[in-house]
Order: sequence, then structure tokens, then C-alpha cells
Amino acid sequence: MPESNEIRSPGSCTAVVGLQWGDEGKGKVVDLLAEGHDATVRYNGGANAGHSVVVGGERYALHLIPSGILAKGKLAVVGNGVVVDPEKLIEEIEGLERRNVDVSGLVISNRAHVVLDYHKLEDALREDLLAAAKGKSTSGRDSGPGQIGTTRRGIGPAYAEKVNRATALRIGDLVNPDVVRERITLACGVKNAMLQGISGSYTPLNPIDIADRAIECGKRLSPRIRDTTYLLHDLLSEGKRLLFEGANATLLDVDHGTFPYVTSSSCAVSGIGPGTGVPPNRLSRIIGVAKAYSTRVGAGPMPTELFDAVGEGIRTRGREFGTTTGRPRRVGWLDLVALRYSVMINGVDEIALTLLDVLPGVERPRVCTAYRIGDAKTDRFIPDGATLANVEPVYHDLGPIEHGLAACRTFDDLPQNARAYIEFVERFVGAQVTIVGVGPGREQTLVRERR
Ligand code: IMP
Repeated sequence: MPESNEIRSPGSCTAVVGLQWGDEGKGKVVDLLAEGHDATVRYNGGANAGHSVVVGGERYALHLIPSGILAKGKLAVVGNGVVVDPEKLIEEIEGLERRNVDVSGLVISNRAHVVLDYHKLEDALREDLLAAAKGKSTSGRDSGPGQIGTTRRGIGPAYAEKVNRATALRIGDLVNPDVVRERITLACGVKNAMLQGISGSYTPLNPIDIADRAIECGKRLSPRIRDTTYLLHDLLSEGKRLLFEGANATLLDVDHGTFPYVTSSSCAVSGIGPGTGVPPNRLSRIIGVAKAYSTRVGAGPMPTELFDAVGEGIRTRGREFGTTTGRPRRVGWLDLVALRYSVMINGVDEIALTLLDVLPGVERPRVCTAYRIGDAKTDRFIPDGATLANVEPVYHDLGPIEHGLAACRTFDDLPQNARAYIEFVERFVGAQVTIVGVGPGREQTLVRERR
């Protein structure tokens, strides 16, 4: 056998991934870690994500650009697994430039797929049709899941276009006007024929206008378009450190989440391979981010959901309103069955527990440790929307968390019941909490060494 001259390149990879239904505070964790890495990389999702970060008292809401852009002098890479709405991306770039953020390090994969107006239109139309169809079943049974409650950012239809292939457009195509016109004309032909059949009042898509706008975006974005797979491997060869930033979250993962109430991409760390071309054996540190309670936006089961004043209090104190859509988030107790599942799916070895400061004021905080389904009891998560909708949570009560957490600056500053809460989580899910969030500021993110 010929002797291999392949030596593993010296660079390293860290992943940050959401362990619940999104909005766990990943942006803040990425912001904390970005200084110690050379590039931040997005691998999935699109403008449905909303990462909010507070730096120097200023709040930034990012949707497509990796949160690491806020760290000076670093690369921010949008990988091939992301679906990019080019107009939204340009808007976001300009918004940051107006606030004097250096965006020169932003690079976009030539193989990321493009989200166009017709994807957003289709997203909204599908949601409206699903809502209208709900309850019209003639079989007497529930006619289907109804709306998914999407962000209407065209994410599902853009991923469907990618999988359908012939009419899809990639970011690298945008710099070639002939390809843009040809592909969009083809897509509009197919879509007009299909959509006219669905809705009589439908106004046909105009491919000329859509193509002109896409070509204009291509001109603006062209200096940033690269083969990011080679770029990332070149960086690893140079010994650089990459930070992968998961968008959306594990329980919204199209394969591992609460299907069909999920997004359309692989949000778990398993999405890094297909979404960037960096293989799984390069990951050396996987940090899962979870809130100290649960939230969810849109439809789908959430076993620990609260409908009372306790939930309302958590929503108000946690400012639980969507970064992307402004929708009030559904709020519930921390679901440890779900969390342990997400830790398992992602191979998480460290947890960042965020928003612990929202729990003081709750008289009797509880965590879910099992589900009851009829007479049976299980401590295993059920990644199926319909089945999970019928479980009853089994709770374990914990002591009231003390006020004043926002003033803590180290783990040792945390009072007794706050520590007991963290230790209970660690024991149940089998991973150490190394980061605790007690407020929006950088100084309110408490960090400790991994054991
Ligand atoms: P889509 O990703 O717009 O197709 O929406 C599918 C589901 O995922 C909906 O319930 C959305 O509310 C949810 N979702 C998508 N992205 C996020 C996110 O970043 N945070 C929270 N929920 C999300």
C-alpha cells in the first residue's frame, strides 16, 4: 500500500448549536467566542434566523450575516448550506456599515442557494392554503397539521428549489446575467403554471423584473463570492480556528426535530458537513446553547408550555418576542427530556445556559424529567409532532432562584438555588454547564473551565 502523505491540518473547529426551538442566545455565545477564533461560519438556514447581540451597549439583530462579524478583523463566512436572500443580505450589510461595523471580512459561498420573491410568495401562499384546508377533511379526522407558522422568509420553498434542481439559482450564478435570466424565466414559467391552477386571482410573476433585481444583487455581492469550502480548508491548513454558528435549532432540525413543525434545514451539528464541506471529525468542541426555560415561535408541540401568569411573567422579563418576526414567543418550563435528546444528537460536551436571570420571581421553578402517554411513562424524547402533542409532562420542582443574578460576574458569585438548578440540569443531561447568562451584557456571561 502506498504510504499516505496526508497529515491532518492543524486548525481547529468549534460548533455552537441551539438545543431547543431557537432563540436560545446563540448570538451572544458566538460573540463571546469569536475573539478566540479566526472565522465564524454559518452552515444552515437563512433570514429566518435572528441572532441578537449586545456589544458596547448597542443591540445588533443579525439574520444572515454570522454574528462573528462584530468581532474586529475576523472572517465571517456564509456557507453553501445557507439559503441567501440577496436583497436582505445587502440590506443587512448596509445596516452594519451605517453603524460603522467593518464588514470587509464577509464572504459568501458561490454554492449557497438564492431566495427570491417567489419563494417568499410561495411560503406565504402555502401557509394560507394550509390554514384554509384545516378542518375541511371529509373523513371526519383532523385534515392535517394546518400551518407550520413559518417566518414567511421563503426558506422552505428555496430548499425545495435546491432539491428540485432545474430551476434553482446559486449565489455564484448571480454574476452571470444570462444564466440568471434563463433560470428565472424557466422558474417563473413553471411557477406561473402551478400557481394559476391554485389561485384564480393570482398575478403572474414577471421574470424580467425578478432577474434584473437578482443581477443587480450579483454586481453588489460579487467581490464577496468565493468557493468557501476550499477557503475553510485552506484556513485549517494554516492552523486557523473556525467557529460554526448553527441557526434555528436542534428541535427545528428537518430530520431530528418535531416534524412537521420544523424548519427545512439541518440545524444540528450534523448539518456542518453538507453545509460547509468541513467533515465531522474536524469538530473538537461542541457547545450547546439552552435557555433556563423553553420558548417556541410558530406552531407545533411544546409539552411544557405555560398559559398562565407565570408564563406571561417569563415572557415579559425575558423579552420573548421574535427578532425576525416580532411574534410573541410561546413560553414554558425547561424540558430536560428534550434537552438530553439534543445533547445526544449533537454530541454536546458543554452547555451554555442562558437567561437564568429571568427565573427569579418565579415562586416554584419546575423542570420536566419525563413524559406520560396514557398509562406509560418515558424519559425519551419523541421527535414527531403528532405524538409529542399528546404527552403530559412529569415535573420535578426546584427551589426559587434568588434575585440579583444580574450582578454576578463569576460562577462562584451565583447563589445557592441558582447553582442547584444548574447542577440538576448537568446531572440530568450528562453535560457540564460552562457558560451561564445572567443578562444581556458581555460582562453578564459567566464562564468556567471545562472539568
Ligand atoms: P421557517 O424556517 O420560516 O420555514 O419556519 C419553520 C418553523 O421554524 C416556524 O415555527 C418558525 O417559527 C421556526 N423558526 C425558524 N427559524 C427560527 C429561529 O431562528 N428561531 C425560532 N424559530 C424559528
